[in-house]
Amino acid sequence: MQRTLSIIKPDAVARNLLGAICVRFEQAGLAIVAARMMHLTREQAEGFYAIHRERPFFKDLVEFMRSGPILVLILEGDEAVRKNREIMGATNPAEALAGTIRHDYAETIDANAVHGSDAPETAQQEIEFFFEQDEIFSRN
Ligand code: TYD
Repeated sequence: MQRTLSIIKPDAVARNLLGAICVRFEQAGLAIVAARMMHLTREQAEGFYAIHRERPFFKDLVEFMRSGPILVLILEGDEAVRKNREIMGATNPAEALAGTIRHDYAETIDANAVHGSDAPETAQQEIEFFFEQDEIFSRN
């Protein structure tokens, strides 16, 4: 059993895709064990994506992530990190496989609908960035 952090990004929230995306997690056997809707400050967006600080797209990424409300989720299940990445599809929606969230719902590489932790260690850090222990409602 594993946990991962998922974010439904401002583009997907603005297009009323919360339900359509959450159902995919649940159908894949991932349980939503924590959820928070929030509108990130610049400081929060910069902090969350600090690993990308030196990348050319960093400023645009931060601006996009604070452009509207997001839904932050913890998903729990077998191989949650890998499974979530599989359901999300490639970073660039143009390269994402048919049937993945980014293929079906994302429009561009910068507004790509969802975030998902890329490894168990980063999942732990990202979960701690957003949630306290008593906000997590494990099914196990
Ligand atoms: P990254 O961690 O590489 O991708 P993923 O979200 O699939 O783990 O990048 C983080 C986000 O940065 C990505 O979701 C969208 C944005 N980004 C760009 O805007 N342009 C780019 O060229 C890349 C690589 C990422």
